[in-house]
Amino acid sequence: MSLPGVGSLRGQVRVPGDKSISHRALLFGGIAEGTTRIDGLLPAEDPLSTADCLRAMGVGVSAIRAGETVEVQGVGLDGLLEPGDVLDCGNSGTTMRLMLGLLAGRAGRHFVLTGDDSLRGRPMRRVGAPLAEMGALIHGRLDGNFAPLAVQGRQLHGRTIHTPVASAQVKSAILLAALTATGETTVIEPAQSRDHSERMLRAFGADLEVGGTNSTEITIRPGSNLRGQDVVVPGDISSAAFWLVAGAITPGAELKIENVGLNPSRTGILEVLEQMGARISVLNSRDVAGEPVGDLHVAHGPLQAFDIGGELIPRLVDEIPVLAVAACYATGVSRVRDAGELRVKETDRLAVMARQLGAMGAQIEEFEDGMVIVGGQKLKGAELDSETDHRVAMSLAVASLVAVGDSKLHRPEAAAVSYPSFWNDLARLRN
Ligand code: S3P
Repeated sequence: MSLPGVGSLRGQVRVPGDKSISHRALLFGGIAEGTTRIDGLLPAEDPLSTADCLRAMGVGVSAIRAGETVEVQGVGLDGLLEPGDVLDCGNSGTTMRLMLGLLAGRAGRHFVLTGDDSLRGRPMRRVGAPLAEMGALIHGRLDGNFAPLAVQGRQLHGRTIHTPVASAQVKSAILLAALTATGETTVIEPAQSRDHSERMLRAFGADLEVGGTNSTEITIRPGSNLRGQDVVVPGDISSAAFWLVAGAITPGAELKIENVGLNPSRTGILEVLEQMGARISVLNSRDVAGEPVGDLHVAHGPLQAFDIGGELIPRLVDEIPVLAVAACYATGVSRVRDAGELRVKETDRLAVMARQLGAMGAQIEEFEDGMVIVGGQKLKGAELDSETDHRVAMSLAVASLVAVGDSKLHRPEAAAVSYPSFWNDLARLRN
C-alpha cells in the first residue's frame, strides 16, 4: 500500500467499538441466562474469533455486522458444550486468555485452544499458573506456556491470587474461573489494569467487590447467575489514539473523534498527550451503560517530549507504538520505561517500532523494558512493514502522514484485527 504524505487532515470520525468491551459482552452474554443485546460491537477479526469459539460451544450469536445489534443467546454459567473440534482464537490474546479462565472450570469437558503464528508464540502460563492454583488442568508446549493448549475441565476452588503482571487478561481469566469455583476468590494486581470486566460482570449480576489501594483487589463470590443485559459498546480509545496523534502532528490538522470510551483505566494516552502540550479537548462527557464516554477534538500544535513509566503503563499499554510516533515529532528526548510487556504483544512492539521507525530515519534506542526516542528529526518516507501487527500498521500510517516523501507499507491488512475501516477513514479525512 502506498502512503503519500498528507496536505492536511480534517473532519469527523467515529472509531469502531472498544475491543476489550466487545470481547467481554460476547463472553459474559454467552454464559448468562437469557438474551444479551449488544450495540456498537466491534466488527473486527478479534471479536469474531471470540464469537466463533462461543458458537462452537452452543452459544447462539447472531451475525456481526457494522451498525447492527448483535444478539447472544446465553447458555448459563455451566452450559457450554464440549466442542467437536479445536477452538481457533486467531490473533486474539484476549480470546485465548479469557477462554482459558472460562473453560478451566467446565467439569468433565475437554477443550483444545489454538491460534495463528503470533498467538502460538505468546505466553499463556501467566493465566495457566493462577488457574492451576485453583485446581485447573491445562497442558501445552513448553510446560503449558504456549498454544495449542489442552484444557481438561474440572471443579475449581477459590483462592487469593497475587498476579505478577498488571494484566486485564490475566485478571479477567481468574474472575471468569471464580464464577463457578467453590468459595470466594480474590485477585490482587501489582497496579490497576483496565476494569471493564469488573464493571460488566457486576452489571450482569455477579457478586463482586473492588477494594485495595487504587482498586487493585477484586473479590468475587460464586453463587449468582448472570442475567442477559443490553450492552452499549463505546468507541475504542486505543483506535482513537491514531487520530489523536495524527491530528497533533499534522500541520493544519483539526479532527473530531466522536463517541470515545473514557474509562480512567484507559485514558493514559490523553494524559501524556496533554503533558506534551497537544491541543486536545474533551466535549460532551457522558455515561453510557456504565462506561464514561465523550467526544474528542484535536488540533495541530507544537509537542514536547514525554517520560512515562510505572503505574501509567497499563493505562496506555496499547498506545505506546503510536506514542513513539508522536515522540519523533516532539521537541526533546522522550523515554518509555517499565514497558517490557510490549515484547509479548502481537509482536515485540519495542523491537518492531524501533526497526520500522528507524527505517524512516528516527533515532530510537531500545532497552529491555522501554525505549528512548530523540525527537525533532524529520522522518523520511520509506519501505515499511506492519510485521502482521495491527497497531504497528496504523502507527506507521500516522508516521508517514508528515514524513518527507512517500512510504510503502507491507501487510496493511493487519489493521482489520481491531479497526477494519481504518484505511477508509484515513482516505476520507486526508485532503
Ligand atoms: C486487553 C488487555 C491488554 C491489552 C489487550 C486487551 C483486554 O492486555 O494489551 O489489547 O481486553 O483485557 P494485557 O492484559 O495482557 O495487558
